[in-house]
Amino acid sequence: MAKQSIKDIDVKGKRVLIRVDFNVPRNKATGEITNDTRIQAALPTLNYLLEQDAKVIIMTHLGRPKAGEFEDEFRLDAVAKRLEELLGRPVKKANEAVGPEVEAMVAALQPGEVLMLENVRFYAGETKNNEEFSAQLAKLGDVYVNDAFGTAHRAHCSTEGVGHLLPAVAGFLMEKEIEALGGALNHAEHPFVAIIGGAKVADKIGIIQHLLEKVDTLIIGGGMANTFLQAQGYALGKSLVEEEKIELAKEVMAKATAGGKKLLLPVDVIVADGIDLPETAASVGIDAIAADKMALDIGPETIKLYQAAVADAKTVIWNGPMGVFEVDAFAEGTNQVAQAVAASDANSVVGGGDSVAAIEKAGLSEKISHISTGGGASLEFLEGKVLPGIAVLLEK
Ligand code: 3PG
Repeated sequence: MAKQSIKDIDVKGKRVLIRVDFNVPRNKATGEITNDTRIQAALPTLNYLLEQDAKVIIMTHLGRPKAGEFEDEFRLDAVAKRLEELLGRPVKKANEAVGPEVEAMVAALQPGEVLMLENVRFYAGETKNNEEFSAQLAKLGDVYVNDAFGTAHRAHCSTEGVGHLLPAVAGFLMEKEIEALGGALNHAEHPFVAIIGGAKVADKIGIIQHLLEKVDTLIIGGGMANTFLQAQGYALGKSLVEEEKIELAKEVMAKATAGGKKLLLPVDVIVADGIDLPETAASVGIDAIAADKMALDIGPETIKLYQAAVADAKTVIWNGPMGVFEVDAFAEGTNQVAQAVAASDANSVVGGGDSVAAIEKAGLSEKISHISTGGGASLEFLEGKVLPGIAVLLEK
């Protein structure tokens, strides 16, 4: 990796101000943490810092509270408690992220102790990358560590601004994400297959364009496949189609042909009268979608086609579901793609909340080479964008 990591600098006994992404999913009614993968993913970095007798000061955001308001539902007490359980040592928790009380807590912190600051998004300055708020945060540390890959696409005070004020290095999770995603993208073994799904072409056009230059085969699924099928002249009935993206879909298909790339689209689909009418689900060829039907998943022949492409791959990147996978009747395509990616011997990288959820739900996580903790961040990384939270870190 071109960036310095915590192994490249001396953190012994230092006040280490670390940004993690503990923006974890929670039960809406009870506030209970429903998935602590992101907390677990930061443990190697935190444990290393503690072994080095650093004083560890943790920053994170949780949810999207109204800027400037300390809303109880977004306080970090439950997150600090879960971290305490996972670390097996006490985690002190501040009720603010900056200010004299926090500074006093930091001053009292001993080597090997952990303090979690309150949700940085309670402060209006955070998302504006306000210099004064960055300076207030920077006062709390001697060294800045960014281990929040999931938030690295945001140029906020805690993810970017502070990095200009303190020596800034990557944590182990950040390093692992950059190496796994960057490695698959830039040093892929071929055949290289990318599977891109999701509802809208608009959301995924960046990743499609960027990956098309690198892969041998690009597989398209999910609602956005409809727009490509319509561009090929098929009638899609009541399916979601982005009329204004049809020309773009044609351009992508032309670019694939010109570049000698395989672009795979559904040959059959699961249709129904509506998302909430799964009892009407049936599989039909793409040339037989009735005027009153909606395409909501890929069909069995398409699954076979996509599985065959994945089976031969040496590198696979997957981002986005193949259908409306929250509804069982329309989840088979996504589940079968998850099975295919897990069964392949390829270097497999899965990013994006929905595809990761499908892998986890099927219990296949162990069979994937790298599951990214980033949703928006992994998407932007795979689009080839420079992520501000990475750019700010010191070069090796
Ligand atoms: C995420 O969950 O994708 C990150 O934590 C970023 O959250 P945000 O979209 O609210 O910035």
